[in-house]
Amino acid sequence: MEQRIKALREMMEHQIGEVQSKENLSAFWQNFLGKKGSIAELMKGLGAVAKEDRPAVGKIINEFKLEAEERYKALNEKLEQAELLARNRREAVDITLPAKKHPLGHQHPLTLVKDEVISVFSGMGFDVFEGPEIEDDDHNFTRLNVPKDHPSRDMQDTFYLEDDLLLRTQTSGGQIRVMDMQKPPIKVLVPGRVFRSDSDATHSPMFHQMEGLVVDKGITLCDLQGMLDKFVQQIFDANVRTRLRPSYFPFTEPSVEVDVSCFECAGKGCSLCKHTGWIEVLGGGVVHPRVLENCGIDSSVYSGIAFGIGIERITMLKYGINNIGLLFENDLRFLKQF
Ligand code: DAH
Repeated sequence: MEQRIKALREMMEHQIGEVQSKENLSAFWQNFLGKKGSIAELMKGLGAVAKEDRPAVGKIINEFKLEAEERYKALNEKLEQAELLARNRREAVDITLPAKKHPLGHQHPLTLVKDEVISVFSGMGFDVFEGPEIEDDDHNFTRLNVPKDHPSRDMQDTFYLEDDLLLRTQTSGGQIRVMDMQKPPIKVLVPGRVFRSDSDATHSPMFHQMEGLVVDKGITLCDLQGMLDKFVQQIFDANVRTRLRPSYFPFTEPSVEVDVSCFECAGKGCSLCKHTGWIEVLGGGVVHPRVLENCGIDSSVYSGIAFGIGIERITMLKYGINNIGLLFENDLRFLKQF
């Protein structure tokens, strides 16, 4: 029996040297420790050993078995370690490679211009107020001095909703909302989307306006022109000037259309200014006393100026865009240029 164990031990040493993989290892286990392996066979042979020798021989077999198990465990660990190393090497990540870039988006040209306009007027002390897009007839028209049957309602093609509600056609209603909440001195901008049933190369059914309102003692048309001069110089070019032309809006008296000297040709005449040297940029005027009174502000004490800037118009002029549709199609080839 001892002889047999000695031979098996030698065989084990030999096989261990051969074990390179998990498959070899499991063969090793089968050969020595499996149900039909050599050690099980030794155990079976124990019956044939003389009774008095059995404990001693049993002990030797057991020791051999423990040894085989130890060897198996050690080999298994070694193989697993090697496998882990190989996997680490295989799946290694080169942390010195530059990271994948996730490009930042950027702001839409209309947002850029809107923010720029707000920034210019904030510098003059204006606050910002935003009113509702679904507006009532009162704020959008009536209290702005446009009664129900007034022909000037036809200036704007309104989308009516139910009852007295409509999609606001202008941000001017914001003037009323501000003056209801706040008494002079007032200096506020009202940016927002407005809606009109109108669509061509320069008109879109939805567009953006920025209302301006100043109410205080002694406010005149000169204040309007002074502020707008600063505004167009910051938005277009430091050398541009403004010119006021008489116009009509129900909520201002007098009303003006504001032109800016052409920043393309410095007033000499080009296709942008249609060879007039001037470009129309916005409307404004002195707030009609009736509008102040409609908001409980004494028009014999206070006066105001107001203006309405079309954000699309300013954006198109500033960047030389000739079709308003480009601002809403979200074509990346266009948007990426800003
Ligand atoms: N709300 C006018 C429009 O949409 C623009 C406007 C003109 C606003 C004169 C004003 C203003 O505040 O004083 O055409």
